[in-house]
Amino acid sequence: MHRPDPHSYYDASQPKARRLRLKLGVDFGAKRLDGEVILEFGREISGVLHLDSKGLEILSVQVPGHGPVPWALDAADAILGQRLCLDLPAGTIEVAITYRTGAEAMALQWLEPEQTEGKVAPYLFSQCQQIHARSMVPCQDTPVVRVAYQAEVTVPAGLTAVMSAGPAGDEATADGRHVYRFTMPQPIPSYLLALAVGRLASCDLSPRARVWAEPELVEAAAWEFAHVEDMIGKAEGLFGPYPWDRYDMLVLPPSFPYGGMENPRMTFLTPTLLAGDRSLVDVVAHELAHSWTGNLVTNASMEHFWLNEGFTVWAERRILRILHGDDAAALGWAMGQKALEDSLARFQNEPHLTVLRMHLAGIDPDDAFSSIPYEKGARLVAALEREVGEERFLRFIRDYMDAFRFTSITTEQFCSFVEAKLPGALEAVNARAYLDKPGLPDTSPEFHSVQLDTLSVLAERWSDGARPSAQQIASWKPAELQVYLQKVPRNLSQADCAWLDEHFQLMGRGNHEILVEWLTLAAAAEYEPAFPRIREVLLRVGRMKYLRPLYGALGQHTRTRALAREIFAAASPGYHGLSRRVVASVLEQYPA
Ligand code: BES
Ligand code: ZN
Repeated sequence: MHRPDPHSYYDASQPKARRLRLKLGVDFGAKRLDGEVILEFGREISGVLHLDSKGLEILSVQVPGHGPVPWALDAADAILGQRLCLDLPAGTIEVAITYRTGAEAMALQWLEPEQTEGKVAPYLFSQCQQIHARSMVPCQDTPVVRVAYQAEVTVPAGLTAVMSAGPAGDEATADGRHVYRFTMPQPIPSYLLALAVGRLASCDLSPRARVWAEPELVEAAAWEFAHVEDMIGKAEGLFGPYPWDRYDMLVLPPSFPYGGMENPRMTFLTPTLLAGDRSLVDVVAHELAHSWTGNLVTNASMEHFWLNEGFTVWAERRILRILHGDDAAALGWAMGQKALEDSLARFQNEPHLTVLRMHLAGIDPDDAFSSIPYEKGARLVAALEREVGEERFLRFIRDYMDAFRFTSITTEQFCSFVEAKLPGALEAVNARAYLDKPGLPDTSPEFHSVQLDTLSVLAERWSDGARPSAQQIASWKPAELQVYLQKVPRNLSQADCAWLDEHFQLMGRGNHEILVEWLTLAAAAEYEPAFPRIREVLLRVGRMKYLRPLYGALGQHTRTRALAREIFAAASPGYHGLSRRVVASVLEQYPA
């Protein structure tokens, strides 16, 4: 037995599925998917097969032509779920499993109409990364295995289904529901399976890019992301032709726990990106960049997550530099530096979670999640780029993508490839220190711009009475204000808070990065005028990136701690399971 991924029961001595055929009935009343999955192996196999499952009710297992197959579900492991053991007869080419999803399926959030923009229809969305696909479909839930898929999703009339796949027709069913068909011809890891169902409308942004959202939001979404084709073009200039045919996006309801998720052909996005001024499209650049780094060349397990995210952050900032110039990219790196420092502080007693090449046996990958694989990883990539020069590095990146396209690789495979193509480069940048040592090496690249230095100096001198001038207040772009707020000292007085709000009109900001940075400062300062806005944001938005610092800041003082617990009690039923877990763990750190 050989298990290459500590987060899956997949056994490398067993055959890999090559394709899935899925049928999903979406039952909003029961909050359940009634599923059938056929795993195709593309050749004759037999014997024991282990699949991942979590909270699934298995109804039957059949091999077409042979009839029922003996199966058993092991006892549940808190992280991995239950191993589903099948014993397949000789000559098996495919296996059909019928099942139902469980009430606690982590991959799925079932929303009541009130939790949507339109408030008239329910909504369902999935989020399978890291290891939640197994709560939606029994499968080999590891990126070591890649599958093409086709799907048929039956939904109540009036609702639309979208998936991380191309549309392949839809029609009304005899029983008054509607069936949507999809096909994903390219092989993807299971964490990129994705489904959303709701009242949806769409708007074309270019011949190959479209945005989906609830009808109330589609116009705003189309405006916000209007320039996506330009971004795709710039990314293609760097990394080669876009490999997935279409690039569509879905703007989800506000409980979506992430900023964005790179589901192939259908990026999922938080509605908090709709700032009204296109100031948060860096998240789209990031998810788009995953089309190459992550979706085309994929980490072999969560122990190599930095290969996905570190490369993608680097790629995202490379795209932004082309679109918006060096200063904008430098600001991006500065925001990343802040996120990196916060994560290093959070994990100061867990140094094993601050290395890039992680060892995660027995650790829930959602607990290991932080900005470290993103920002430390991106700094390693940038260090290699500086070492060998931009042009040579870009040629290397294209070779890398060619060599490993549609495969899933480890850090070790990456290192051997670098050694072969750029001999000596790993050692020159001290790659070992990034990969295996905690913290950030002091040789790691720094990113400067005149504007960034100005903002830093001004913010650091806040306590000496330094304030932005009227001219600066009027001219700063959102990213500049965000970096400034990040660098202002944390111990503001009531008067300081009032000054900031008055001069920058912070309470009414539509840019959630700025709004949440401000509300976090205000919470830490017990600035009461901000409490209603904090409550409003926490009751509406489930994006974990915002919940963690906001609840964390509220937790610091007795009075705001009580407020935090009261808000959480009210907000928690509307949060995604992942968000609920994060907030509970943040609040647990403070005395009762
Ligand atoms: N793939 C991630 C989201 C993710 C990570 C989901 C781990 C589940 C587990 C996505 O590409 C991402 O990194 N999103 C960021 C945006 C970004 C600009 C760094 C986010 O959600 O904030
Ligand atoms: Zn990412």
